Amino acid sequence: MSAHPIAQSNFERAEAAAQYVLAQTKLRPQIALVLGSGLGAFAEELSDAVCVPYRDIPHYPCPTAEGHAGQLVVGSVAGVPVAAMQGRVHLYEGLPIQQVVFPMRVFGRMGIRAAILTNAAGGVNLQLKPGCLVVLQDHINLQGVNPLLGPNDERFGVRFVDMSKAYDPAFREIALREAARVGADVFQGTYAAVTGPTYETPAEIRYLRTIGADVIGMSTVAEVITARHMGIRVLAISCVTNMAAGILDQPITHEEVLETGRRVRGQFTALLRAVIPQL
Ligand code: HPA
Repeated sequence: MSAHPIAQSNFERAEAAAQYVLAQTKLRPQIALVLGSGLGAFAEELSDAVCVPYRDIPHYPCPTAEGHAGQLVVGSVAGVPVAAMQGRVHLYEGLPIQQVVFPMRVFGRMGIRAAILTNAAGGVNLQLKPGCLVVLQDHINLQGVNPLLGPNDERFGVRFVDMSKAYDPAFREIALREAARVGADVFQGTYAAVTGPTYETPAEIRYLRTIGADVIGMSTVAEVITARHMGIRVLAISCVTNMAAGILDQPITHEEVLETGRRVRGQFTALLRAVIPQL
């Protein structure tokens, strides 16, 4: 016998967390939802809902940022069982990236095959306005780190992951069509991810516009990479909560970000309701 307990692998930790969540409900979620800053209200719309606080799920990371509730809500939308994260953790909280993407690993072990990731983002493209929705078609990872760094666990997926169609084209088409139907101001665009927690400088935003970013945020990309590693299909939608730095002559505040999220809540909820049964 060894004097030290044998360290659990990330795979085993994700498996333990998945089994814990599944033991709380009879539902078997097919779709994962990650609800970003100010967008958590959608989870209140689920029927037959069971709320599982993150702190009760083995190994699960708990968010510290305001506007992130910290619970997983398992329930149904139009008869489709889903698991919705009300709040997520971010790199800027100081967690290792493997912790940031752990919830996506858990979704994979729960047998989920599709994920809808939402976020609050700054508008870099000058055609955007606060309150617009952007269906992501691609990303630029400027976080300086990739969640797949380190030894590859083949039980999750292959070593070298194709990212050429990371944002599922069929899902995007459904989202764009339904967004127009619910009357949302909707665009398709590229998301650039930075670590934060500072908002960007005006020079950084000019640079981001030059390299092809339409929106800027501090999340989502690592989760998308992890989802694709496991073959989970991805739809990602940004809510433009503010214009990025240097566009308007006013400072960017977290309150503004949360307030715009709340303002588009009705549209956002209608869009998710319409999209989920079609994925
Ligand atoms: N920059 C980065 N992240 C953000 C922003 C922004 O302007 N707005 C919401 N999240």
